[in-house]
Amino acid sequence: MLLFAAIQFAAAQAPSAPGKPLPPGPMQAKVKAACTQCHNTSRITEQHMTRQQWSDQLEKMEGLGAVIADADRSAMLNYLTKNFGPGKGTAAKNAVKKSGQSTD
Ligand code: HEC
Repeated sequence: MLLFAAIQFAAAQAPSAPGKPLPPGPMQAKVKAACTQCHNTSRITEQHMTRQQWSDQLEKMEGLGAVIADADRSAMLNYLTKNFGPGKGTAAKNAVKKSGQSTD
């Protein structure tokens, strides 16, 4: 019963928290559709992961029941890494500036 699991999971979060909105982008709607059935967007927007970590995360979500079309996977990873990559933390944002150095 996935629905039951989803409800349980949702109940563990702040009850009425709608989650932070997903940033605009070509994959916004698809990520919203594929990724907010079981948890709200905060689960995603709070992360700062590398592309590889996002890839692992997507696989984990698929294991839990998420459906991600093969054709969308790469674009979805681009979107997630761009918006919620390792350098996007509030602290990291200030630290990174325009050094032109990118380690990933
Ligand atoms: C079938 C239900 C379901 C769907 C659909 C789903 N997730 Fe999840 N997600 C979960 C559950 C359950 C957890 C908590 C897992 C845990 O804590 O081990 C979770 C946790 C997460 C986390 C947090 C991991 C952490 O370490 O805190 C992220 C990020 C995430 N999901 C991203 C996504 C993305 C991106 C998608 C869309 C591709 C997605 N989820 C779709 C069920 C789902």
